[in-house]
Amino acid sequence: MNPALKEHALADQFAAVNRAFSKQSYHYDADDRANPILQDMRDQVYTHVNRYLKREGSILELNAGTGIDAVHFASSGHHVHATDLSSGMIRQIMAKIQLPSVGDRLTCQQLSFDQLDQIEGRKFDYVFSNFGGLNCIRDLSRVTKHLKPLLNTDAYITFVIMPPVSLWELAWIFKGNPRQAFRRLHKNGVKAHLEGEFFETYYHSLREITNAFGSNYKLMRSEGLCSLSPPPSPGHFALKHPQLYKTLRQLDSFVRLVPPFNRWADHLIVTFKLVS
Ligand SMILES: C[S@@+](CC[C@H](N)C(=O)[O-])C[C@H]1O[C@@H](n2cnc3c(N)ncnc32)[C@H](O)[C@@H]1O
Repeated sequence: MNPALKEHALADQFAAVNRAFSKQSYHYDADDRANPILQDMRDQVYTHVNRYLKREGSILELNAGTGIDAVHFASSGHHVHATDLSSGMIRQIMAKIQLPSVGDRLTCQQLSFDQLDQIEGRKFDYVFSNFGGLNCIRDLSRVTKHLKPLLNTDAYITFVIMPPVSLWELAWIFKGNPRQAFRRLHKNGVKAHLEGEFFETYYHSLREITNAFGSNYKLMRSEGLCSLSPPPSPGHFALKHPQLYKTLRQLDSFVRLVPPFNRWADHLIVTFKLVS
């Protein structure tokens, strides 16, 4: 595609994303709290991050949403700069900056993750992106190319991102819906429909993510999130089948770091370290 047209298409994409998530921002926290699988997934992400996050570190959060994780980390003593594209999401974070538990440790900025060069005069120990915000961009190097000047020595970056292969989605074959089963494999993206808005989503393999980081970064760990256990979408599976959910979660903990389950999952939790 001609470069000017490409930029135009990206601007349209981000405008639709902003509208969709701004509408969703009003009920986002209530939906999150009501979903036990999502809560469980967040806890698993925190366990992964805590392995690398130093005490009272400074965190740059990308696609921070309403600031659920930003508040979690700021309340635990870290300094968090939370960024998001959506004006509605940023309004929700602004309201949380007043919370006593975060002290003066939470700031926010409305910013697309491909414009991180607009952050001036700050460096971070950690960059964090949770729950698939980065699936809204086709070319991850548009994000990673801006990271280095923002990072302190030995900084870590964790992306929680949806890969092309998820066993739970492939299971749609058995329900006679091959389109749904293989939708993540479309290289040109898949149309997402959220709050009456349409935008493209792109599924990134571990190899693609690693290539976007390049040789200045070392892959530390890739783990599957919901490799065998169900993702949040199929209703309240955890509530309807608590014992089965518990068993599948236990199985997850055995396989999540082992190929192919560290790359075939609903989301991947992938951490890189700045090495040069
Ligand atoms: C599924 S939500 C996840 C929010 C949050 N990380 C969480 O864990 O609750 C995806 C977020 O990505 C944000 N997003 C999408 N495209 C973005 C972009 N280009 N730059 C920054 N944020 C973006 C959306 O506005 C939305 O808040």
